[in-house]
Amino acid sequence: MNIVVGITGGIAAYKAIGVVRGFVLAGHSVQVIATEHALRFVGKPTLEAISRNTVHTDLYEGVAEVRHVALGQAADLIVIAPTTANTLAKLAAGLADDLLGNTVLASTAPVLLAPAMHTEMWQNAATVANTALLRSRGYRFIGPAVGQLTGTDSGPGRMSEPDEIVAAGLALLVPTVADLAGLRILISAGGTREPLDPVRFLGNRSSGKQGVALAEAALSRGASVTLVAAHLEVPAPAGVERHAVETAEQLRTEMNALLGGADIVIMAAAVADYRPREVAEGKIKKDATGDVLTLELVKNPDILAELAANRAPGQLVVGFAAETARSRDELLELGRTKAARKRADYLVVNRVGWTEGFATDGNTVVVLDGAGHIVIEATGSKLSVAHSILNVLAEAGRSNHQEHND
Ligand code: C5P
Repeated sequence: MNIVVGITGGIAAYKAIGVVRGFVLAGHSVQVIATEHALRFVGKPTLEAISRNTVHTDLYEGVAEVRHVALGQAADLIVIAPTTANTLAKLAAGLADDLLGNTVLASTAPVLLAPAMHTEMWQNAATVANTALLRSRGYRFIGPAVGQLTGTDSGPGRMSEPDEIVAAGLALLVPTVADLAGLRILISAGGTREPLDPVRFLGNRSSGKQGVALAEAALSRGASVTLVAAHLEVPAPAGVERHAVETAEQLRTEMNALLGGADIVIMAAAVADYRPREVAEGKIKKDATGDVLTLELVKNPDILAELAANRAPGQLVVGFAAETARSRDELLELGRTKAARKRADYLVVNRVGWTEGFATDGNTVVVLDGAGHIVIEATGSKLSVAHSILNVLAEAGRSNHQEHND
């Protein structure tokens, strides 16, 4: 899951390193947002080494990728440790004058605050009121603990220990229940590659991340998962039955062979629509072809439409539609046309472009049913989007099952 750890400017910032490390060791991807003041207490290189990611500070960095909202949208959890009295006040006022403030406002993820300050500041009426307001808005708190503070004084205000903060954060992540136990889910993921000659291919920019996240989420919910993997840029989760393929034709053969043993089929792979009519035996030489090389391509069969047409009663077939639409209306229109053509039970529509969709960690999708009606919309990390899609399928699987047993 994607966790944003915000670090603000208090002496307890040195303990935030343990928080970042705890989340990384628990297998999560951690993005650190440190305020300018935090970096006076703890070094950027340390945080980058421990988080294994670039540390973000400046609101005006990464503007092209709209980082001030992207980090928040992709987050499954935001933890701010330490949270100073100043940051509490800014959060209570909804201020967005720095990257952390923007990220919190742009996110729908749970936010966990670990306050750290002197006792007088914690007990000040302003802080008490800010804390009450934030609690009423759903912000969660851990601590502060009572104990030795930075000076000689002691009392309430000490930041909770890093392992307690990590445990409280992990408890806020998507709960995993075995609601897919007994279901067999067949997922295609990645991008197919169509060879031109022994060294070249026509491919696409799919990383396989969304399909792999679906496999991971389905496994964690008790399903048995078969993954038909075209080129993947991320490792397949341990525990799946993996079938490696290269071309659309190979993917088609595998999917058709495995269809009978699946309750749910998800076509998350980006399948090449066309393949070269002929594959050269040897490497195509530029001296032999001149300045212009013309490739003749033939259409690949539509595997999703084929699987949907061949499904047995009770089987669910789900497709994806990655579109380069300019607006939400256009995106939905393209999705609805595709849903009608493919005749799958559900179509997961998402927008792609030069910076959106492919190879990113976050995703925004609209799930349409076979008739083109919106079932759900989801934004977040690819793993949390996977869980949202599986929520729909778990529900549909249950009613399908019931119908067939009635
Ligand atoms: O038509 P389009 O490529 O946009 O459709 C996308 C959906 O159809 C995805 O689920 C993809 O896996 C599937 N597809 C397919 N066979 C193709 C092309 C796409 O199954 N030849």
